[in-house]
Amino acid sequence: MKNFKRIFLIVLDSLGAGALPDADQFGDNGAHTLRSLSRSEKLFIPNLLRLGIGNIEGLEFLGKNNSPKGAVCKLAEKSNGKDSTIGHWEMAGIISAKPLPTFPDGFPDEILNEFSRITGRGVLCNKPYSGTKVIDDYGERHMLTGDLIVYTSADSVFQIAAHEEIIPLEELYRYCELARKILIGKYGVGRVIARPFVGHPGSFTRTPHRHDYSIEPPSKTMLDAIKAAGKDVISVGKIKDLFAGKGITESFATSGNAQGMEITSKIAKMNFNGLCFVNLVDFDMLYGHRQDVDGYANALTAFDKWLGEFLPQLLDDDLLIITADHGCDPSDNSTDHTREYIPLIAYGKQVLPVNLGIRTTFADIAATVVEALGTEYSCAGKSMFGELTDLRCFLKERAISAMSRSYCPYSGYKVGAALLTASGKVFTGCNIENAAYSPTICAERTAFAKAVSEGEMDFSMIAIAGGKDGVMTGACPPCGVCRQMMKEFCKPDFEIILAKPDGYELHTLEELLPLGFSL
Ligand code: THU
Repeated sequence: MKNFKRIFLIVLDSLGAGALPDADQFGDNGAHTLRSLSRSEKLFIPNLLRLGIGNIEGLEFLGKNNSPKGAVCKLAEKSNGKDSTIGHWEMAGIISAKPLPTFPDGFPDEILNEFSRITGRGVLCNKPYSGTKVIDDYGERHMLTGDLIVYTSADSVFQIAAHEEIIPLEELYRYCELARKILIGKYGVGRVIARPFVGHPGSFTRTPHRHDYSIEPPSKTMLDAIKAAGKDVISVGKIKDLFAGKGITESFATSGNAQGMEITSKIAKMNFNGLCFVNLVDFDMLYGHRQDVDGYANALTAFDKWLGEFLPQLLDDDLLIITADHGCDPSDNSTDHTREYIPLIAYGKQVLPVNLGIRTTFADIAATVVEALGTEYSCAGKSMFGELTDLRCFLKERAISAMSRSYCPYSGYKVGAALLTASGKVFTGCNIENAAYSPTICAERTAFAKAVSEGEMDFSMIAIAGGKDGVMTGACPPCGVCRQMMKEFCKPDFEIILAKPDGYELHTLEELLPLGFSL
């Protein structure tokens, strides 16, 4: 199978596709970022709709498309968290059992004592606080004593604010590096952030010299694998930060979405070989957290407009993936992130416009990206590459998932079939047994009966998968009756795809039923 040369993986930060089944455990029952946006009059996304965003299960309210240009699915988060770091790590292959720690009551003495010992300075505040208010309230004390203002937020952050004329920048950065070294294990916050400011009591202002020190991913990600294979891993926006620089070969910082999109367009004109990993942060930072539905909708509208100019720039062996990292419903009752599915749209000249349903982990993105680039990396995700580029593979996976609906209390042998019509529709079927045995219907005939009864008569191929107790050990060729059923409706070159644990085998009807009966 042919690989892709360039992959653009664009994360629309916080664009959730509806609450996950376990959202109540995160206080996010009913959260749905995209549905909230769909209620804004500002939302106009013709390009995303053309690609098929409205065909994602549960997003039909956006508008379905009968001939989408892209492949779509939505993915569940397996990690125990809903922040950007954990979300991006999972899409790069790491599943985190625990969320990054937050400190709603401030940091424990153990940490602060050690921090004071290594910096030789006292600590002020130590609470969750607004970044501007914290300097108003503690700035003067800090100037008098030289103690450092340490504060946090609802996120997993350890922030140090200091006046640039009291603590020189280099010194503040060194304190952050020291803090980063002690904030590990159960105190391993996502980021340590230097927050320098200037001015006088009553009129302090923050300077642009903010600096983030991210925690390193706990193990190798797809980025490390792609870099180790000698390919490019280009970061646009906060990607580099989220991975603490690991596995990145080149990076472009951005001031927001507009610059992120502009840089991505420039990169598309470059001849690179590997991954361009983009994060567009405004959705989350400026609109999701601030509960600004119209602002968020305007930002997605702007992205869609940019997309209209970007898509024609893509080359034959490019793959574009548009997705998100978590939700941040702007119209729920909190400013916090929300535990949601993420939407995914894949587009490219070699990509089939298939619907890949609902996936169990963001790590399917990592598995897909590395396979598409022909790189070795193993993770918990299941690659979508085969299904995105090979129609037979796509049909085989639909047959495998139809197996799960088999009704076979007598034989315990589950069979699934997926029948493709000439017009591109898929009808699935499973075997349905009966206590009187002979009324049993095979999976293939279930699929044909469904299709014919819906007025379909023109078929191009069928995939079949089966196995005892649902475990596929080899091919499951159709029985004689099913072959005769196929002969009734299909031409001799009708393709029969037999799923196998490691691929599939291909046959034609003519091969499997020579001299079939006809009147
Ligand atoms: N079965 C099929 O679904 N398709 C075939 O072509 C062969 C057999 C089912 C029927 C029955 O429920 C089970 O497999 C065991 O015979």
